[in-house]
Amino acid sequence: MSTKILIIGACGQIGTELTHKLRSLYGNDNVIASDIRKLNNDIVNKGIFEVVNALDYNQIEHLIEQYQITDVYLMAALLSATAEKNPAFAWDLNMNSLFHVLNLAKAKKIKKIFWPSSIAVFGPTTPKDNTPQYTIMEPTTVYGISKQTGERWCEYYHHIYGVDVRSIRYPGLISWSTEPGGGTTDYAVDIYHKALKEGKYECFLSEQTALPMMYMDDAIRATIEIMQAPSELIKIRSSYNLSGISFTPAEIAAEIKKHIPEFTISYKPDFRQKIADSWPASIDDSMARKDWNWKHKFDLASMTKEMLEHL
Ligand code: SER
Repeated sequence: MSTKILIIGACGQIGTELTHKLRSLYGNDNVIASDIRKLNNDIVNKGIFEVVNALDYNQIEHLIEQYQITDVYLMAALLSATAEKNPAFAWDLNMNSLFHVLNLAKAKKIKKIFWPSSIAVFGPTTPKDNTPQYTIMEPTTVYGISKQTGERWCEYYHHIYGVDVRSIRYPGLISWSTEPGGGTTDYAVDIYHKALKEGKYECFLSEQTALPMMYMDDAIRATIEIMQAPSELIKIRSSYNLSGISFTPAEIAAEIKKHIPEFTISYKPDFRQKIADSWPASIDDSMARKDWNWKHKFDLASMTKEMLEHL
C-alpha cells in the first residue's frame, strides 16, 4: 500500500512548508492538506485541501477513510505565548487532537503518526546548557505541560498498543514563507521583517536570552527523515531532542548588522521573558544523531543570509 498523507494544521508556520515538501516528494494526489480555515493560499489552491477541526474525531476519521490515509502529521496546536492567555482551550486542543489521532492508529485506521513536541517540555529545574535527552522535566507553561503529557501518551500508545508514532522536540523555528503564530521564539522571525522594513526592532526578550533555534529547512528535513526511517531505528517514542543553533537577541542582531549596518535593536521584555527563562539555552541531540543519523546544516550566518535574501 502506498503512502497517503493527511496534514492537520497545514496552513500554520510548520504545516505550510511541510505540505509543500511532502507534495513535492509524494505527489499532489497523495497529500491531503487540512486546516480549520480555508485561506486563499498555495496550500489551499495548489493541491487537495479540506477544512477540518482537529477536535472533531468523526471529521478526521471520515477524511482518513475517504482518502485511505496511511500517515498523519498533526501540526495543529496553540503555542506557548497564546496558550498562557487561554489555558483551557490550549489544553483541549493540544491534548484531544493528539488522542484522536493516537486512537485512530490504535484502531489500525492509520499506520504512522508525526506529532511535534517542543523545548517547552523542559522547565526552570532542567540543566540549561546542552540539555540532555533524559533529564529533569518540570515545565511551567500550559504549552509545555501539554507537550510533556503528550510525549508520555505517545510512548504509552507505542508500548501498549504498538502505535508507530514519531516525534521531535522542535527548538524555535525560523522561516520566511509563513509567520509564526504565538510563540516565545517568534522574535527571531519578526526581527528580520522589521530589520528590512524599518531598520530597527524592539525585542520582547532581553539581550542575553539564549534559546535553541533552527532554520525551517532543517526542521522540515528532520521531520521527513524521522518519518522515513525504518521503524526499528526510532528507539525513543516519547520525543527526540533536536538541535540546530543557539543564540541570543544580541547575537542575531549583530549578524543582521553585517548585512544592514544601520540596523538597531532595543529591548523591552514582556511576559514572554519568564517563559524563555524557563527553557534551555542549548540542546544535546546526540540520540537523534545516533539513532536516525540527524545532522543540521544551517548556522546563524547561513540562516541570516537566506532569510534576508528571501524576504
Ligand atoms: N516555538 C515555540 C514557542 O515559542 C516552542 O515550541 O512556543
